[in-house]
Amino acid sequence: STMAAEEPNLKRKLAKLFEASLKATVPNVPDVEPLVAACTAKFGDYQCNNAMGLWAQIKGKETEFRGPPSIGQAIMRNLPQSEMLESCSVAGPGFVNVKLSNSWIAKSVQKMLIEGIDTWAPQLPIKRAVVDFSSPNIAKEMHVGHLRSTIIGDTLARMLEFSHVEVLRRNHVGDWGTQFGMLIEFLFETVPNWEDGKEIAIGDLQAFYKASRERFKNDPDFKERAQKAVVRLQGGEPNYHRAWVQICEISRKEFQRIYRRLGVHLEEKGESFYNPYIPEVLKELTGKNLIEDSEGARVIFMEGFNIPLMVVKSDGGYNYASTDLAALWYRLNEEKAEWIIYVTDVGQQQHFHMVFKAANRAGWLPDDDKSYPKASHVGFGLVLGEDGKRFRTRDTEVVPLVDLLDEAKSRSKAALIERGKNVEWTEEELVQTAEAVGYGAVKYADLKNNRTTNYTFSFDQMLNDKGNTAVYLLYAHARICSIIRKSGKDIEGLKNTGEIVLAHADERALGLHLLQFSEIVEEACTNLLPNVLCEYLYHLSECFTKFYSNCQVVGSAEETSRLLLCEATAIVMRKCFYLLGIVPVFKI
Ligand code: ARG
Repeated sequence: STMAAEEPNLKRKLAKLFEASLKATVPNVPDVEPLVAACTAKFGDYQCNNAMGLWAQIKGKETEFRGPPSIGQAIMRNLPQSEMLESCSVAGPGFVNVKLSNSWIAKSVQKMLIEGIDTWAPQLPIKRAVVDFSSPNIAKEMHVGHLRSTIIGDTLARMLEFSHVEVLRRNHVGDWGTQFGMLIEFLFETVPNWEDGKEIAIGDLQAFYKASRERFKNDPDFKERAQKAVVRLQGGEPNYHRAWVQICEISRKEFQRIYRRLGVHLEEKGESFYNPYIPEVLKELTGKNLIEDSEGARVIFMEGFNIPLMVVKSDGGYNYASTDLAALWYRLNEEKAEWIIYVTDVGQQQHFHMVFKAANRAGWLPDDDKSYPKASHVGFGLVLGEDGKRFRTRDTEVVPLVDLLDEAKSRSKAALIERGKNVEWTEEELVQTAEAVGYGAVKYADLKNNRTTNYTFSFDQMLNDKGNTAVYLLYAHARICSIIRKSGKDIEGLKNTGEIVLAHADERALGLHLLQFSEIVEEACTNLLPNVLCEYLYHLSECFTKFYSNCQVVGSAEETSRLLLCEATAIVMRKCFYLLGIVPVFKI
């Protein structure tokens, strides 16, 4: 539509009112940014915290004010009239507290019910982003680190997409290392009929990888052939190229099994894709005097780092960093992405910060990290086992992800049968629900933590139906849906004919929390912190529980209004689930 959508972010809406007030209050101080925050105290819903800072700026000069409280009073007086506001007060050293009007909150929630939750999508200043996530390595195992990247990256992509940003979901698979020489030679040697395309012949690709590495280590002839094979592959020899394609294809199918289960969509542009761009990009950086020789290699020295970024190895080959520089160039110039987001473990932080710094010195990225285009590294911590050590099973080095997802599913299936003794399941329903709950539990257990910290992987914890778990939240949502269903009312009709009234304190608290959805998604998305959305969702379920235990819904005089609140809660919960990549269930 041509009409600009209404600003859905409550905090920013209030900031606009305060901005007007600040202009009137201190006309001589230019561009005061309103500092608005949700209140934790009982004084109001939001507060404006500009008075103290302003006093520091203007005291000593000729002014009508006697201190922060009198500035606060003036800010309050100068607030424009608005139907949003119920009352306003000044507390302590000049905090200006506002209380939102009940009827405005009610009206806003009802408007969402009628016009849809998409009207609450954040409005971001960019059109296109790249999210580089998952990105496992061909022929190597996809481990829990890649699982974290997949889960976190998918959520960030979903939040951006919801906010009307076009997201290029990039799987930057490692498909171009020196390991391919070894793999191809080993393929030629051990799978004579490899060209039939019977990938079954390789069977377990990881075992194949290990066996070929053994051979590489122990047989000097093989090693030499393998090293030559890399050159022949990179030179484009058809046989070698076909073998490479085959090996990648097998890995790809493995990865795809995981993505399908998790409901994650990715578009592969592996390292090999950027290879042809590397020479030009390095030429440009050389032209800008960024690259120098160091012990036969080509490197970029940068302030603030103890080591240089190597971009050409001493044997003349390219590496991870040269590929990432070319990829960044491509994303900025060819794909015209304004925000490029990389999701990997924190161990790669230095690598990315060096790549960004190089891009910044080349003039590709602006100096400050407030303006666009922008590159961000989203680092995450380790997954730990219950013994507090790096997560692994008894005999293998890493946990195969398929096994892990299988176990989540079978455990949640067992729990569903156990818990829902009187629920009639068809086998299909049971399997679908077990998957939704099991995979949802794995995702939520990961996302609810601040991503930079390590977290402990525990099936018992994540599948618990009490506490801050996906299981608990999925149940809470299903219960709300059943309240509405059992009321026998036509909820769609009521959205237009009924009216929400927020008379009880718990109704109001729920309504206000619903209204904060937009600012929370915006915060989670712009700060790249999915746990912020998880906290919101959990708190929403708490608000609902409080409301539901203190306010009778079905059969009360307020039934219509309260059913509408139930419906709004269910809608917002479902959108949270969606953004977290969790599939809601209705029967449990
Ligand atoms: N393949 C890498 C790994 O497994 C992650 C790639 C991340 N993305 C990038 N553009 N470097 O650690």
